[in-house]
Amino acid sequence: MELVRNAEDAQVLNEVRVQLLGKKGEITQLLKSMKELSAEERPAFGQRVNELREAVESRLSEQRTKLERAQREAKLREETIDVTLPPRRIQYGHPHPNTKALEEVERIFIGMGYEVVEGPEVEFDKYNFEKLNIPAGHPARDEQDTFYITENILLRTQTSSVQARVMEQGRLPIRMICPGRVFRSDAVDATHSPSFHQIEGLVIDRHVTFADLKGTLDAFAKELFGPETKTKLRPHHFPFTEPSAEVDVSCFKCGGKGCRFCKGEGWIEILGCGMVHPHVLEMCGINPKEYSGFAFGVGLERIALLKYEIDDMRLLYENDTRFLEQF
Ligand code: DAH
Repeated sequence: MELVRNAEDAQVLNEVRVQLLGKKGEITQLLKSMKELSAEERPAFGQRVNELREAVESRLSEQRTKLERAQREAKLREETIDVTLPPRRIQYGHPHPNTKALEEVERIFIGMGYEVVEGPEVEFDKYNFEKLNIPAGHPARDEQDTFYITENILLRTQTSSVQARVMEQGRLPIRMICPGRVFRSDAVDATHSPSFHQIEGLVIDRHVTFADLKGTLDAFAKELFGPETKTKLRPHHFPFTEPSAEVDVSCFKCGGKGCRFCKGEGWIEILGCGMVHPHVLEMCGINPKEYSGFAFGVGLERIALLKYEIDDMRLLYENDTRFLEQF
C-alpha cells in the first residue's frame, strides 16, 4: 500500500501494478504457491490472498484517479488566459498608391463608356513594334530596348502592343483602355525603372476626329486633377500616330504660376497621344477610309507620383509600409 501511495506518476504506478499483480507479481506468486498447501489450509489462504488482491486493486485505481485529476488541474492552470491583457494590434493592409491611381483612371474612363482590357506582358515583336509602324531597324527601337526571350518574343516595352491586338480582332467600334506592366532596359533612378506600368487608350469609330481626342483628354485631366485644370497639346512624334502630341496639364499646385513642383514651368507633361496612323489601321485589318481613331498612353507611376506628390519613383517599389501607410 505504501508503494501505491508513493507512486507519483502514471508510469511508476504501472510498474507497481506489474510488481504486485503481474504474471510474476508478488500476489500472483502467492496464489501459485497455494498448491503446496494442504487441502484444509487452501480455502482460508485463498480467501485472504483474494482479499489482499482486491484491496490492492482498489487502491491502485484510487491512486490512478487521483493522479489523473492532479494532471488535469495542472494543465488547466498552465493554460489559463489572462483576459485583461491588451490585444495584439491587427495590421490592416490598404491599396498601394499605384493601385489607387489606376482605380481612379479606370473609374474615369469607364464613366465615359470605355472597356478595360488586358494583354500579355511577354509579347511578339509583331505587336510591340511592327504593327505599330516600328519595323526592324527603326530608330524608335533604340529608346525602347528591352529583354528578349527569342528574336521575335520580348517583354513588351509599351501597352500600345494591345492596340494592335484589339484592332486585329475586328470588332468595331473600339473604346478601350489597357493598363499593364511594361519593361525597358533602363537603370533604376528617381524617374526610371526596368519595369513600370502604362495605361493605353484606343478609340476607333467612323468620324472620330482630333477634336474628340482633345475633348476626351481634357475631360480626363479635369476629373483626375480637379476642375480648374487646363490642358495644352504640344506637337510631338510617335511612329504609330499622325499627327501626334504630348499633353501638358496646368500645375495643380500653383495653378500655372510656376513653382518647385512644376519646376517653374506652370505645366506638367502627363501623356502622349495622337490620331491612329492610317498605315497602322491597315496593318491591323481596318479600312482607314472608313474608320479613324485616336490613341493615348500614360505612365501610371507618373500619375501616382503627381497625384500623391511623391518625388522618387523608387519609393513606390520598396514596399516600406511606413511610407505606403501615408496614402
Ligand atoms: N507607347 C508610348 C510610349 O511608351 C506612349 C504613347 C504615345 C501611347 C502616343 C500612345 C500614343 O497610344 O498615341 O512612349
